[in-house]
Amino acid sequence: MSVLRFDNVTKHYAGGHPALVDVSFEVAAGEMLFVTGHSGAGKSTLLKLIHLSERPTRGAVLFAERNLLKVRGGKVALHRRQVGAVYQDHRLLTDRSVGENVALPLILRGDRRADADKRVRSVLERMGLGHREKALPTQLSAGEQQRVGIARAIVAEPRLLVADEPTGNLDPALAAEIMTLFAELPARGTSVLVVSHDLALLKQMRKRVLILDHGRLVDDISPQDLAE
Ligand SMILES: Nc1ncnc2c1ncn2[C@@H]1O[C@H](COP(=O)(O)OP(=O)(O)O)[C@@H](O)[C@H]1O
Ligand SMILES: [Mg+2]
Repeated sequence: MSVLRFDNVTKHYAGGHPALVDVSFEVAAGEMLFVTGHSGAGKSTLLKLIHLSERPTRGAVLFAERNLLKVRGGKVALHRRQVGAVYQDHRLLTDRSVGENVALPLILRGDRRADADKRVRSVLERMGLGHREKALPTQLSAGEQQRVGIARAIVAEPRLLVADEPTGNLDPALAAEIMTLFAELPARGTSVLVVSHDLALLKQMRKRVLILDHGRLVDDISPQDLAE
């Protein structure tokens, strides 16, 4: 089963040069891969097309074999529940506790409070944050804040997690720790697509790597080739 497919996707922003040109690739369910490339290569645009904050100019994006062109209006919110997103700046609500932040996607989809609390506790435990549930985000270290962001993105067990430079603000040890957490997700049914230009980290992880260059997908490197 494919969780994600880009079919000859081109994206032009109004007035600008093309951000993506004829990009095609497929992600299998249970796969973890990276997207890399220079600044302006089109990495964030690629994620925005998956999350439906942008639409392709030409070509199609398929999610779980469904053309996202057909996902419009109220269905967009339903689609986003199946795609967890992690950003460089974790975007936590600073006036809500860690637990409340993580519970948000569950409350929005209508889970009962008691069910939500149970899930929140369990995911915080996995992230090594079981003792921080009542804390405010500002009372946490940068690495802890990022882990809360990840907990919030995966608490509803999305089919796909997308992360845009999630370790950009972290030192190498914390970055490796975050990547280890990501690498555990495919076994739990969540595929993972991470944008990163940290080459050392990419080599260390030994996963598939897509390389964008001026909007074109110029390479698709398998883990075996990376090991050489
Ligand atoms: N909202 C936008 N409007 C116009 N141009 C944009 C917009 N977002 C991105 N771009 C342009 O599209 C190209 C790709 O950007 P982006 O996807 O953010 O690249 P990356 O994440 O790899 O740095 C860049 O040339 C950028 O300036
Ligand atoms: Mg970007």
